[in-house]
Amino acid sequence: MTDPNLTFPKGFLFGAATASYQIEGAVTEDGRTPSIWDTFSHTPGRVLGDDNGDVAADHYHRMRDDVALMTQLGLQSYRFSIAWPRVQPGGSGAFNQKGIDFYSSLVDELLDHDIRPIATLYHWDLPQELEDRGGWANRATAQAFAPYAARVAETLGDRVHVWTTLNEPWCSAYLGYASGVHAPGRTDGADALAAVHHLNLAHGLAIQAIRAELPSATVSVTHNLHVIHPADPASEDDLDIVRRLDALGNRAFLGPELDGAYPEDLIADTAAVTDWSFVRDGDLETIHQPLDLLGVNYYTTSIARRWDGVSERHLDDGHQESEHLAWVGVDDVDFVRPPGLRTAMGWLVDPAGLTELLVRTSAAHPGLPLMVTENGAAFEDTVDADGQVRDDLRVDYVRTHLQAVKDAIDAGADVRGYQLWSLLDNFEWAWGYERRFGIIRVDYDTQERTLKDSAKLYAQVIRASA
Ligand code: FCB
Repeated sequence: MTDPNLTFPKGFLFGAATASYQIEGAVTEDGRTPSIWDTFSHTPGRVLGDDNGDVAADHYHRMRDDVALMTQLGLQSYRFSIAWPRVQPGGSGAFNQKGIDFYSSLVDELLDHDIRPIATLYHWDLPQELEDRGGWANRATAQAFAPYAARVAETLGDRVHVWTTLNEPWCSAYLGYASGVHAPGRTDGADALAAVHHLNLAHGLAIQAIRAELPSATVSVTHNLHVIHPADPASEDDLDIVRRLDALGNRAFLGPELDGAYPEDLIADTAAVTDWSFVRDGDLETIHQPLDLLGVNYYTTSIARRWDGVSERHLDDGHQESEHLAWVGVDDVDFVRPPGLRTAMGWLVDPAGLTELLVRTSAAHPGLPLMVTENGAAFEDTVDADGQVRDDLRVDYVRTHLQAVKDAIDAGADVRGYQLWSLLDNFEWAWGYERRFGIIRVDYDTQERTLKDSAKLYAQVIRASA
């Protein structure tokens, strides 16, 4: 079932990824206070089936067993996130030793099993109190992030292999504040762009805080960089739409973080929405911190064209329909749906897009190593009579995408690892438990874990490459 030729450079890290709210459960235990996702998921109608993360995969209580499963698969790294409201209830003031202890034990458990910890400080579970004071549209949220980052860095210290400030700030800003399909569910384009800036600022402040504690730490940020092609490469209109999406989706983050400036076309394109006066003197210097690694999450590609105002139109590029557009100010976009295999999320399966993204990003930022920090697929799994999950589509997805990473490396991209999304079936945000991304099945009635065929394939690839 495996391709023994899939061998990767020495030191390449094969791992799997999860996020705190999606797996931990135990939302009221040991001093944790609500995050925006607790509030959002408990608001009827926000999440499919009104599911919530109260129990999720119960990882908070099963952490050691889950690490044992990682060991069984031969994982070399594990990317997890830290729940801010567990470590610092309410997002300001006193820290919660019990919350810190949980992550400290997780890190020790990983190291005891030769698994390198890749820690993300923010994977969307903002303390609700900070949202009540304006959330990411409020500059104070970015400032509050620094002491939290410092405290986590001080406690977990050099036991963490890679530090990641933010996961996919594109989603936090645009899905949280423009289309409203993610927590906190707000729908104001100007707030979304303010959120973009304050997330960038939080990133810069957190990098400074981590470096102050741990001068030799490996620091990074993870983005869901978009690969968007024009429907008609000869159409000026379509090319212009792609340029605008690229500005909002990619350059709004990479511009200030890697080059110290917001793209001029982004500011011009969004002038009717905001004057960007939330960018204050000195902010760009703060955001523009040297990075040791760039995390790239990849699932799919999209095709965009300028909407003619008449034909049927798709505004949703796979994140859930909303009356409000995630792409602030691009009111004339139409996402074309090409034929081809799609996952249960409706996302086109396109491994070549991953090669393109890695090669292009690596070439644009020489000297900055990349890591695939998420890649994977939701499919409708079935449990056979013998208890096995023969998830052939996911097996193919993983194999072809690993091949795509290998192709990118062969084409010159500097890619240091692959963290498969996801270790476990989990709470898939607005889609609740309906969408399963795990290579390990979770039976939500019993919390029993079952290795799917994709987990076995992945273990074989890791063994063959080692
Ligand atoms: C990414 C998120 C991750 C997971 C996958 C499917 O956008 O970072 O938490 O939901 O999508």
